[in-house]
Amino acid sequence: TLVTLHHLLAQAEAGGYAVGAFNVSDLNQAYAVMTAAKQQKSPVIVQAIAGVHPYESESWWWRRLRELLVSFPEVEVALHLDHGRTLEDCRRAIDAGFTSVMIDASRVVGTDEPSSFPDNVARTAAVVKLAHELGVSVEGELGTVGGAEATGATLEGLIYADPEQAAEFVELTGVDALAVAVGTSHGSVKFTTPDAKAALKIDLIKQIKSRLPNTFLVLHGSSSIPAAAVEIINANGGNLPASYGIAPAQKAQAVQSGIRKINQGTDSHLVWVAALRQHLADDPITVEPSVIIGAALTGMIEMVAMRMREFGSAGRS
Ligand code: 13P
Ligand code: NA
Ligand code: ZN
Repeated sequence: TLVTLHHLLAQAEAGGYAVGAFNVSDLNQAYAVMTAAKQQKSPVIVQAIAGVHPYESESWWWRRLRELLVSFPEVEVALHLDHGRTLEDCRRAIDAGFTSVMIDASRVVGTDEPSSFPDNVARTAAVVKLAHELGVSVEGELGTVGGAEATGATLEGLIYADPEQAAEFVELTGVDALAVAVGTSHGSVKFTTPDAKAALKIDLIKQIKSRLPNTFLVLHGSSSIPAAAVEIINANGGNLPASYGIAPAQKAQAVQSGIRKINQGTDSHLVWVAALRQHLADDPITVEPSVIIGAALTGMIEMVAMRMREFGSAGRS
């Protein structure tokens, strides 16, 4: 059943757990997430980023994605736009039947520069006005969660959210959920040293939550970067640098402190590529796609199911 983000996260708030928001880049990955949710009896958020898909047409992809989700009636699922950059991104997602959108106005459009607070507020409030009229939930972002696919973060380079400003931001915009910069970083290249553990500020999550009892807090850039997957990739032709992510135990602490949505893209993609590389290396003869893609699906289903248990959402649906 397709539901809003607000609906799922209100249940999570009452139950004291977090719902995983898993990035999908194609229909196979969406199938993996939904199959894991069905197996684990878990609510789930499936999220897509505008422009990230292998198909010719975004509207074709988004509509097929929505149909795939609806074909699992036993799973409570929100279809969420991840890191929408503009009102137009959000409008297209709403038109395609998304039940939730993120407007990430934390940067000046088309640049890496942090946007001013009033600019972020104005762009976010405009999306809230459009979305709420149509019953769609909105996630905003304050401060910038660092990192990108190819760049790592340093502990010194992190920008943290300010609790006072977070409260003001929610008051002025009316967002349902807020992505908070509390020491995580996006992408497969995260922290270059294991002391990344020091980066995640659990106390800051608690401070923000105490000022925002009615807002759902979101943790971005939270992949763990499992060493086993990186090793398999590198043993089979890959060349990923060493990198340290957010340990599952740290995420569990974040959930205890009030995080209700945890975003994961990279870990799913890592196990997907690891399974593909391993399978292709072990079996040089098979060209049947169902066998090859089947290996990747199995890896991703297991990873997502494990996260649902770790986040406490398994068995809640
Ligand atoms: P990761 O790159 O750590 O998986 O973070 C994903 C994310 O925050 C998507 O919005
Ligand atoms: Na998001
Ligand atoms: Zn993110």
